[in-house]
Amino acid sequence: MKITNICCIGAGYVGGPTMAVIAKQCPDIKITIVDINEARIAAWNSNNFNELPVFEPGLADIIKETRERNLYFSTDIDKAIDNADMIFISVNTPTKTYGKGKGMAADLKYIEICARQIAKVAKQNKIVVEKSTLPVRTASAIKSILDNTGNGVQFQILSNPEFLAEGTAVQDLLNPDRVLIGGDASVKEGMVAIQALVDIYSNWVPKEKILTTNVWSSELSKLTANAFLAQRVSSINAMSEICEKTGADINEVSKAIGMDSRIGSKFLNASVGFGGSCFQKDILNLVYIAKSYDLNEVANYWEQVILMNEHQKNRFSDNIVNTLYNTVSGKKITFLGWAFKKDTNDTRESAAIKVADNLLNEQAKIAVYDPKVSEKRIYADLDDLSTRSSDENKNLLTINKDPYKACENSHAIAILTEWDAFKNYDWKRIYKNMQKPAFVFDGRGILDKKELEEIGFTFYKIGSGK
Ligand code: NAD
Ligand code: UDX
Repeated sequence: MKITNICCIGAGYVGGPTMAVIAKQCPDIKITIVDINEARIAAWNSNNFNELPVFEPGLADIIKETRERNLYFSTDIDKAIDNADMIFISVNTPTKTYGKGKGMAADLKYIEICARQIAKVAKQNKIVVEKSTLPVRTASAIKSILDNTGNGVQFQILSNPEFLAEGTAVQDLLNPDRVLIGGDASVKEGMVAIQALVDIYSNWVPKEKILTTNVWSSELSKLTANAFLAQRVSSINAMSEICEKTGADINEVSKAIGMDSRIGSKFLNASVGFGGSCFQKDILNLVYIAKSYDLNEVANYWEQVILMNEHQKNRFSDNIVNTLYNTVSGKKITFLGWAFKKDTNDTRESAAIKVADNLLNEQAKIAVYDPKVSEKRIYADLDDLSTRSSDENKNLLTINKDPYKACENSHAIAILTEWDAFKNYDWKRIYKNMQKPAFVFDGRGILDKKELEEIGFTFYKIGSGK
């Protein structure tokens, strides 16, 4: 079966880049990305390519190449579903904020709405692909909704989790470590559906990197991958605290252990704590699944990854307060970076949010500079915590478009995101215009201790012993 028309529901950080790359690599497939969010669709259709809703290196060029050629953005969801042979569901699956499983389970309401809409509209057989990250066994719920509310047409459900990381999404999509496709190979229709998706990826991904499994293994592998990745960050962050007490250096420890081919050198950077929309949500979801099967030891094991991450964020802000003579009340502290990692405008679960909240509780005055995050986003992140009123947040936190201005008269600078540009700032100029003693708290380990200390800074680097 050859797919010629794809619909993707959800034009977010995954739907946008993923479909843009499929459109680029498969010019003969027409792809329509739909969303209920009109402003988001308008932004994807904007002729100002700096205003696309997702910033990813290389993405704007692909959108320029493919948009209106074989890639379309629309709010007409029914029409796109009707026309498509294959429908990707790429909507958000956030942690539930209400009812049973509140604060842990994935909220599947958006998924269910999509399934019901597909069932209502579809007049021909469709392949439905789970692109969103979902709890294991969600495909059976989707299948049940489709089969019971549909118009008697056949649906095949595939699981095709996305492994891209933000900031490197385009490269990850063009050159993935693997593509995972879960389907029901026990029936002919299932085999045909799996092959149809394999054929799409085969346009640019080597065959040996396309892995097919049963649906449940595919769904669970996504949660497992994120749990393992986050666990590495929490593990190295736990060691960073020991380093600080003992005089060991976390970069040296990372290098030493990373050269062991069984451990590997990637993903061993100590930090102020992992953020992003996936790690915390997916581990909480995994913990919830384990608990629901009464696997309490399994649940507690993975929950510790999150608790360690919370600790890492809190100890970073505690250290700032302790070092600044146990009070930051009325003192200006400059944040360089607000995004959860470099090369993205995404701030979901960014460590900066928690660190700022802790310091604002201590009555600090915060100035923020981030090269890609909007002012509106930063205030919304703080307001969403409901710790204090929106007016208070505006009063206590200011946002600068110029990093040097943000640092003026500051008592301390905290590096929250590892943007490359921060390394090349004129640190002498920054030092000159700060309160003395001038402190730098490097939560990403990107600055040179010796150089900063020579300028006169009192310098703290995560995981660097005395
Ligand atoms: P997102 O919030 O950026 O985008 C989701 C979009 O879906 C939103 O624009 C929303 O308006 C839209 N939507 C919700 N319900 C809809 C409906 N019924 N009809 C039409 N549109 C609807 O989320 P995201 O970051 O793209 O993540 C999507 C999924 O992919 C999640 O399950 C996530 O866990 C998973 N994932 C994310 C990443 C990542 O790096 N962000 C990586 C891998 C997997
Ligand atoms: C993650 C997974 O990597 C990706 O495969 C999945 O599809 C979605 O979730 P993402 O959250 O976009 O991707 O970025 P990632 O590079 O994994 O970073 C997550 C967080 O961990 C960031 O805050 C990052 O700064 C932090 N991190 C990462 C570290 O602190 N140290 C590291 O060594 C690596």
